Amino acid sequence: MALSPTPRPGVLDIDAYVPGASQVPGGQKPIKLSSNETPLGPSPQAVAAFSAAGAKGLERYPDGEAAVLRAAIGRRFGLAPERIVCGAGSDELISLIAHAYLGPGDEGLYTEHGFLLYRIVVLAAGATPVVASETNLKADVDAILAKVTSRTKVVFLANPNNPTGTYLGIDEVRRLRSALPGNVLLVLDAAYAEYVRRNDYEAGLELVATTDNTVMTRTFSKIFGLAGLRIGWAYCPPAVADALNRIRGPFNLSAPAIAAGAAAMADWAHIEAAVRHNDEWLPWLTAEIEKLGLSVTPSVANFVLIHFPDTPGKDAAACDAFLKGRAIILRRVAGYGLPGALRLTVGSEAENRKVIEALAAFTGARS
Ligand SMILES: Cc1ncc(COP(=O)(O)O)c(C=O)c1O
Repeated sequence: MALSPTPRPGVLDIDAYVPGASQVPGGQKPIKLSSNETPLGPSPQAVAAFSAAGAKGLERYPDGEAAVLRAAIGRRFGLAPERIVCGAGSDELISLIAHAYLGPGDEGLYTEHGFLLYRIVVLAAGATPVVASETNLKADVDAILAKVTSRTKVVFLANPNNPTGTYLGIDEVRRLRSALPGNVLLVLDAAYAEYVRRNDYEAGLELVATTDNTVMTRTFSKIFGLAGLRIGWAYCPPAVADALNRIRGPFNLSAPAIAAGAAAMADWAHIEAAVRHNDEWLPWLTAEIEKLGLSVTPSVANFVLIHFPDTPGKDAAACDAFLKGRAIILRRVAGYGLPGALRLTVGSEAENRKVIEALAAFTGARS
């Protein structure tokens, strides 16, 4: 019998991540509200830095330490650059964390409707995924703690979570950290942190600074508008930064990405404009959708989860097809255990108005 290469156990249990759709039948330019990208685009300064970096020197390897970018992040948040590790998106950092801290026999824990990548990276590392139930579509510290065993090595918590848009206040996150065994690495995935406007929310900077077993990951893909460049960062205890630096690709960020990320970090006015835009349109979308008789999970991020009735022709799948017929793309979230819901990213004013018009036509509120 012919021998053939076999992936190691776990790999073929992975359902590959399916990104938010970006095309509609007929090739029309769609309104894409499926990937939580910003309608404001990147900072013009980031685009200029990207172009300048792309215009010359592409034959050279980039700075493998991404020093300029780590310094810019450190300046903005008052952090020591040695504790910052950059990656090709926070996806890469989440994956590196799993590979550094999980292996066969270990358990990686995350919540019921948590970001889909966690299951993928846990399985890819050869470890066992363990899922804690949520309460009202929100992470539940007691439910997470109830799932901890002597094999648990990493807990992943998206805060705020995608696709629910719910969050845990810092007191609950601290309670989680204090109750977890010291050898369990707590990963606070704060991809949407900049959008959150709640007094009881913290992304986790202080917790990382004051413990040796908590990591926070962040991204340039959402509010910074640089998803296409793939830039993320992790703020780590020194020993965790050391472990990630040992296993990451030596040149894991391109030179244009390093330059654009550093410029984007320096343009905080652009971020503030994006926060103002979200503050205006997130409540507007929520209220307009509720007026149509659909329920919305209260969100602190740049997207909302819309719940549909389980009636054929009126359910989430039917709405998705209806909207695609109008070249509007939302995100189906059946893979997150939410077959009755669609996730809608806050778009530009024109996009938001169009999507509400289309939802009104779908529900029969307006034609
Ligand atoms: C909660 C969460 N974490 C991480 C990511 C990964 O983002 P990126 O790899 O683009 O930094 C996403 C993207 O959708 C996300 O929603």
